[in-house]
Amino acid sequence: MAHASCRDELMHMNGYRCIACAESQATDFAEFVCPSCGGNLDITYDYAAIAEEVAGGFANGQTDLFRYAPLLPVRETDTAFPLRVGGTPLYAAPRLGESIGLRNLYLKDDTVNPSASTKDRAGAVVLRRAIDIGAEVVSIASTGNAGSSLACLAAALGLRAVVFVPESAPAAKLTQALSFGATVFAVRGNYDDAFDLCLAASKEFGWFNRSTGYNPFTREGKKTCAYEIWESLGGRVPDRIVVPSGDGNLLSGLWKGWCDLRAVGLVDQLPKIDCAQSDASAAICLAARRLRDKGESEPDWSTVVIDDVRASTTADSISVNRPRDGLAAVKGILQSGGEAVTIPDAEILAAIPEMASSTGIFAEPAAAAPWAAVKQMLRDDKIEADELVVCIVSGSGLKDIANVQKSVGEPLIIDPSIEEIAVLKSLATTSLFS
Ligand SMILES: Cc1ncc(COP(=O)(O)O)c(C=O)c1O
Ligand SMILES: [Zn+2]
Repeated sequence: MAHASCRDELMHMNGYRCIACAESQATDFAEFVCPSCGGNLDITYDYAAIAEEVAGGFANGQTDLFRYAPLLPVRETDTAFPLRVGGTPLYAAPRLGESIGLRNLYLKDDTVNPSASTKDRAGAVVLRRAIDIGAEVVSIASTGNAGSSLACLAAALGLRAVVFVPESAPAAKLTQALSFGATVFAVRGNYDDAFDLCLAASKEFGWFNRSTGYNPFTREGKKTCAYEIWESLGGRVPDRIVVPSGDGNLLSGLWKGWCDLRAVGLVDQLPKIDCAQSDASAAICLAARRLRDKGESEPDWSTVVIDDVRASTTADSISVNRPRDGLAAVKGILQSGGEAVTIPDAEILAAIPEMASSTGIFAEPAAAAPWAAVKQMLRDDKIEADELVVCIVSGSGLKDIANVQKSVGEPLIIDPSIEEIAVLKSLATTSLFS
């Protein structure tokens, strides 16, 4: 389904610009990608008008992501949403940071979104759009989280969701989507197969396609994470934000969010945006490094090619052969001066209990990748001890128990008797008494 616009009532959106060739389209452009080159589109705004409106900060009293309505492609009168998306906490993590000598580490806990991942940010803005244009069926290809998120938010709004996931998607994510009443297609193939099928089916049956990156409204939702970090830090700009990346949409959204804040005069510096990927699914990092090695931090973006990889990471959310917002993500890394960090799966899994046991925040594998990346950067002398570092914790550990179990020991199985505990104490089997 195309998405012809309701131009008059949108707040400050003034069109689209191609990420690759920079060609512009008017607000009433009804397709998803650039008609000239097929590149992803970036939504553009009248920043001067927004700057006037938000000069004193964001003051509409909302605590969810529609608090930032002036910077979103939404109607002025219609920012109510039945579930609270966004407005998530930014926690200082002193014990985790100090375990490796970092003095200013923060975790952005996006696991507390309605479907327990950061994907709800994109879904909320896309579904507002779906309602604006009268769409009733919204489709998506997903590694799992975006699908369960769409299903959740569509249920809250009374819309129908069609979800395409790889057959191997974790049971919790599939079960969420089914519970929320979505039609779920578990595709015999990988995420990339699911993506292509969703694209074809959406065109054939006239569904509004929310797939990440391809739908330009997804980046607009993700960028609200940047605004929240800025507000939570009382207007300070972090030195770096470390982002787990598969398609690269979360990363490109975070970069856009900070660029927006600068464009409306609320900040004058920008953070580095670091990309955290498994070394078994590293298309974005490999492309960013290749360009940087060639000294090309501002290349002709229309000529940049992101090579596919054969992804095999156990961090299923970021297992992607062909990143669907890869170019925008590579731009974000290079323009911000961030690092492209790849980490082995074993370190990603080990990061889960490390984070959980010193912060109380339980991450799925993808969401633990930033902490593993921070440790890698410290080993490589890329971070100074007093830098203000924010890791995005993008999905709950409850979403992929099978993989998380690999990184924790077994419980101590005992009879219901105090003597058993005393024996364990005498054998020093547990650290409890040490
Ligand atoms: C928990 C989690 N973290 C990170 C990501 C990566 O986001 P993106 O695909 O936009 O790079 C995803 C995407 O599914 C995710 O579910
Ligand atoms: Zn183009």
